Amino acid sequence: MCHMTRDTVRQFGPLARDYALSESHARGRTLAMLALRVQPRATDAVLDVATGGGHTALAFAPAVRLVVAHDVSRSMVQQTLGRARDAGLSNLRGVVSPAECIPFAAECFDVVTCRTAAHHFDDLGAALREARRVLRSGGRLAWTDLAAATDPELRALQHRLEVLHDATHRGTWTPAEWRDALEGAGFREIAIEGGVDERLTELPGGTSAAEWCERSRTPPEAQAEILRLLREARQTTREALGVRDEGDDVRFCLYKLVATARA
Ligand SMILES: C[S@@+](CC[C@H](N)C(=O)[O-])C[C@H]1O[C@@H](n2cnc3c(N)ncnc32)[C@H](O)[C@@H]1O
Repeated sequence: MCHMTRDTVRQFGPLARDYALSESHARGRTLAMLALRVQPRATDAVLDVATGGGHTALAFAPAVRLVVAHDVSRSMVQQTLGRARDAGLSNLRGVVSPAECIPFAAECFDVVTCRTAAHHFDDLGAALREARRVLRSGGRLAWTDLAAATDPELRALQHRLEVLHDATHRGTWTPAEWRDALEGAGFREIAIEGGVDERLTELPGGTSAAEWCERSRTPPEAQAEILRLLREARQTTREALGVRDEGDDVRFCLYKLVATARA
C-alpha cells in the first residue's frame, strides 16, 4: 500500500542544500563504485531512487539518455533539477513518491540506483520489489547504503547512534541480509561488496560526529549522547568503529556496502 512518510519529508525537506554540499555525499567512494559497477550506456534510462542532494543522478546524467531523480521530498527533487540546469544538463526529470510506491509502469528503466537512503525506508522489501518491477528484464540495480555489523552488540550501538542522529532512521542490514532481500525481490546475479568487515567508508579518516549531527540538525542532547556513547564504548567496539577522540569532537566510521544485481 502506498503511503507518504511524513516524518521523513519533514526531516529532509529543509536539508536539501546541506546534502548538496555534504563532502561525503559529493565525493564519497560509493559514488564512483556505483558508476563502475553499472557501466552506464548512452541509451540507458536511469531511475535514481531517493536522490537527496542529487549526487548520484548528476554523476550518471552525462553518460546516459535520461535520469529520473526520485525522492519523497519535493525540495530534494527540485534542488537536484536546479543543480542539473546549472550544470547544463537537460536530460533530468523529477518525481516525488515514497520508494515503496514508484509511479512508473513496469519495465521502463534500464538502471535503478539508490545511494545512502534505504536505511530510512519503512519497507526495504517493498522498495526493492518496486525497483525490480520498473526495471526491464536484464536491467541493472546498483544500491549502496549503511552496513550493519553481524556482531549483535556492535549492531545495536550502530542502530542507537543512527536513531539519535536522525529519528527517521529505520534500520540497516548485513551483506547476507541484503542478499536475502534482493533474492526475495526477484533479483539475480547479486553481488555485495564492502560492509563492516571490509571497512568500506565514503571518505578516508571517517566521519566527524559534529559535522554529521550538524547536517541533520540533530538536537543537542542527542548529539551529546552520541559523543558519550562513542567515547565510553569499550576498546574493542572503539576499534571496530574506528573511534578517534578529537578535542570536542569524535571521529568514527559509518560503514557502507554496495549491492548490485540484475532484474
Ligand atoms: C542521504 S539522502 C540521499 C543521498 C543521495 N542519494 C546521494 O547520492 O547523495 C537520503 C534521501 O532519502 C530520502 N528518503 C527517505 N525515505 C524515503 C522514502 N521512503 N522514499 C523516498 N525517498 C526517501 C530523503 O528524503 C533524502 O533525500
